[in-house]
Amino acid sequence: MNKNWFEEKIKKFSSIGGYQKPELVEDSIKLDSNENYVIPKQFQNDIISFAKKNSDIREYPLGGVERLIDTISKFIKMPSPMIGVGNGSDQILDLILSNFASKQTKVLTSNPTFGFFEERCKLYNIPLIAIPFSDNMKLNIKDFLKESKNADILYLDSPNNPTGFQFTKSELQKLVKSFTGLVIIDEAYGEFSEYSLSSMVKTQNNLIVVQTLSKSFGLAGLRLGYFIASKKFTETFMNVLQYPYPVSTITIESGIHALEKSKLMKDTIDSIKTERKRIIETLQTFDAFEVFDSKANFVLFDAHGAYKRIYSALAEQGISIRKLGKIGNHDGCLRVTIGTKEMNSKFLLAIRDLLG
Ligand SMILES: Cc1ncc(COP(=O)(O)O)c(C=O)c1O
Repeated sequence: MNKNWFEEKIKKFSSIGGYQKPELVEDSIKLDSNENYVIPKQFQNDIISFAKKNSDIREYPLGGVERLIDTISKFIKMPSPMIGVGNGSDQILDLILSNFASKQTKVLTSNPTFGFFEERCKLYNIPLIAIPFSDNMKLNIKDFLKESKNADILYLDSPNNPTGFQFTKSELQKLVKSFTGLVIIDEAYGEFSEYSLSSMVKTQNNLIVVQTLSKSFGLAGLRLGYFIASKKFTETFMNVLQYPYPVSTITIESGIHALEKSKLMKDTIDSIKTERKRIIETLQTFDAFEVFDSKANFVLFDAHGAYKRIYSALAEQGISIRKLGKIGNHDGCLRVTIGTKEMNSKFLLAIRDLLG
């Protein structure tokens, strides 16, 4: 092997760039990462004090993952042997890709798709067949059905980040049933949408549905994701591919307590959906914007030539949203997370002042 192989590898990896995290703006009204601020801070305090009481971090969390999985099982009403966990759904997606995909396996997805997933495919040289969104930010199921035979893996985030689009349940079911390779349905925003495909894993051995506590439970910092899949896949993933202790004791105990208090999470979803409607309808009143429908906890809109000015003006006022720029034929896309009523009102007021 070439003596410089290590330097060359580093050079190759550094040229990829990696996942672009949003800018860190201290004390901003944070509407840039699809987090959930509607869930009260008290909820966090409660689960952390519960975790503190129930943890001894001198020990490895032996048996902890199993207890966590049993709690997830009760929450989603699926059998424990069909559930696995990871350090955020990011880590689950990464382990699936690094072990099941390669230069030889083509992944069918949308353009855009979840940024981290795309970056990981770049890192592992996994080729993508990426179907673009139409001008009204929708996908056509026929394009996916047609390309299915050319792909080995189907990955869809349902709803999609950053567009908020979701196929109808019957369309997606049809696509999943017809796909013969591995199917990964990423439901990070599933609770904000109209359906989940999780029960389909009972009949589809090639289906993995990935979910997370980051969005709906407002626990992005806890790093707890999980998946639902066939017993065979789950057993192999958890015993062979996953780390022996993939999540910390604090994460396990906090996660268990959060799941036991899921009623609170469900209440916040209702309020986020109501606010989503208000944001969409208010943004639509500005002729300068094209606003797209969303089934997630964020809204995408095209501010055309004004997008950089709007992004910077909001940032100056301490309001962080996500600047995306060109998506398909839309050149000025911005994505705003649905926050609390007060956060959303400040965002909408700032927009009115800028454009009014
Ligand atoms: C579509 C999608 N999948 C997965 C994730 C990652 O979630 P987690 O915090 O569980 O790693 C995100 C986060 O933004 C996302 O948008």
